[in-house]
Amino acid sequence: MTHLVLDKVSVHYDGRPAVERVSIDVAKHDFVVLVGRSGCGKTSLLNVAAGLVEPVRGSATIGGRPITAPGSDRAVVFQNDALFPWLSARENVAFALRLRGVRPDQRARRADELLRLVKLEGAGDKHIWELSGGMRQRVGLARALAAEPQFLLLDEPLGALDALTRERMQTTLLDLWTASHVGVLMVTHGIEEALVLATRIVVLAPGPGRVVRTFETAFSRRYAAGEPIRTIKADPAFAASRGELTDAIFEGEAA
Ligand SMILES: Nc1ncnc2c1ncn2[C@@H]1O[C@H](COP(=O)(O)OP(=O)(O)O)[C@@H](O)[C@H]1O
Ligand SMILES: [Mg+2]
Repeated sequence: MTHLVLDKVSVHYDGRPAVERVSIDVAKHDFVVLVGRSGCGKTSLLNVAAGLVEPVRGSATIGGRPITAPGSDRAVVFQNDALFPWLSARENVAFALRLRGVRPDQRARRADELLRLVKLEGAGDKHIWELSGGMRQRVGLARALAAEPQFLLLDEPLGALDALTRERMQTTLLDLWTASHVGVLMVTHGIEEALVLATRIVVLAPGPGRVVRTFETAFSRRYAAGEPIRTIKADPAFAASRGELTDAIFEGEAA
């Protein structure tokens, strides 16, 4: 199975350490979530995985091959991702299909399939400016999946959404993860979000960024197996994990 591996990665900016010896292993079917206070290197690590930032030490590989640049095996979605506002939702997704060399007569059908996957069926003709924030983020995900990546790299993709939309998008993300067989590496600020989505949570601390805890969690696999998200969140084990994760994030922080 293909793994995306960061092995003892250190990142410096202008000679100053931002990340020190962080190791992360994402298999296909994993949903790995990075959490930690601002400045602990979450975005830097995602950028290393994307091939946008080069580590000063350590290695980043995908399927054993070094990551040296962005590639179609990895799709990146940021918080405020730019869609083409003058194109429709379908055309935004079809554009990515065109870049991949999909034949013109197949693009619209494939784009509609992808829009259905992110629960935007019927919205293909809408222009981007007609869509809500949550719907735009769904188009962004559909576009990312158009490249048929093996891994999705998500930097606070739901951060700009209101609380209710955000909660709905969490289950959309899980459905999409289950249906598309991608491995996910995602950054979030949300403690509950991390617990809902992850199969593994990596807690980072700043100064410089390093791993302080790793949790293997089972809540998202329970959802994937058919358990309703409400039942999962109401499980006392969920509340216990939330307390434990919160402690891990704020451990060692100056009061
Ligand atoms: N392009 C950059 N140039 C200089 N310093 C940077 C750059 N990007 C990030 N940093 C610094 O590296 C550290 C980690 O940043 P970042 O990876 O963005 O953390 P996070 O995403 O967890 O908030 C911070 O101290 C930040 O100021
Ligand atoms: Mg960040």
